[in-house]
Amino acid sequence: MLEYQAAKDLLKNKIILVTGAGDGIGCAAAIEFAQHGATVILLGKTVKKLEKVYDEIIHAGYPTPAIVPLDLKGATEQNYIDMAETIAEQFGHLDGLLHNASQLGALGPFEHIDLTSLETIMKVNVTAQAIMTKALLPVMRKAPHASIIFTSSSVGRKGRAYWGPYAFSKFATEGMMQVLADECDETHVRVNSINPGATRTEMRAKAYPAEDPQTLKTAKEIMPTYLFLMGDESIGTNGQAFNAQS
Ligand SMILES: NC(=O)c1ccc[n+]([C@@H]2O[C@H](COP(=O)([O-])OP(=O)(O)OC[C@H]3O[C@@H](n4cnc5c(N)ncnc54)[C@H](OP(=O)(O)O)[C@@H]3O)[C@@H](O)[C@H]2O)c1
Repeated sequence: MLEYQAAKDLLKNKIILVTGAGDGIGCAAAIEFAQHGATVILLGKTVKKLEKVYDEIIHAGYPTPAIVPLDLKGATEQNYIDMAETIAEQFGHLDGLLHNASQLGALGPFEHIDLTSLETIMKVNVTAQAIMTKALLPVMRKAPHASIIFTSSSVGRKGRAYWGPYAFSKFATEGMMQVLADECDETHVRVNSINPGATRTEMRAKAYPAEDPQTLKTAKEIMPTYLFLMGDESIGTNGQAFNAQS
């Protein structure tokens, strides 16, 4: 998918929510979507980071984004219901949802798994995405066509020693994608997952501290798959697991 070339106005007039939009891949996706004409809703934990992305989008002359400060760890179902209502009021519908925010947690042997950390990772990486999607589906069904992207990982497709709760959460993410895609088959909502592959971000540096980041693709470089799945050229693509770097 690295070779996919998106038309300049691919996402014109689309409303797209990106979680974890303040940093790394989510930040790159939000800017890329805006550059291709979308109004992006920037959801994330650290307001300062979201404001920086907001300013960058405004400065570039792209459509004015919106900011939703929300920590997925503490968010309640009511938070998502309220957010869905606000989106319905302000925009009428939602065309795209990129579930990108995740926590890595500590890597290590199975016997060292910490219950609190396991519960936090499952809450942020799985439960939050399920309940947010549930709340947003009605407003997504109001779009002519809508796209939901879940973010996976290589360790969510094949288990690997010492990747613990993060890997479990990514397997659950793939499962959630498949269940929802099957339910949405033959509807105007399509659901797919992307494994970004090794990408130059804070999370990758935390997982591989000894690695030279310059050897990795940047978040911007892996954007073609994200654009393809958000744009109308992927209408009819449903339930597929993509790799952004192949
Ligand atoms: N980078 C890679 O090589 C790689 C490889 C495979 C999969 N992935 C996946 O790609 C996605 C993006 O990863 P990344 O490398 O860009 O990670 P990152 O640089 O750590 O960015 C993660 C983003 O998620 C947000 N986030 C984390 N916890 C949150 C919470 N509780 N509530 C709301 N937002 C939260 C962060 O916000 P704050 O900055 O405010 O904390 C940040 O904006 C993740 O799903 C990751 O698992 C990445």
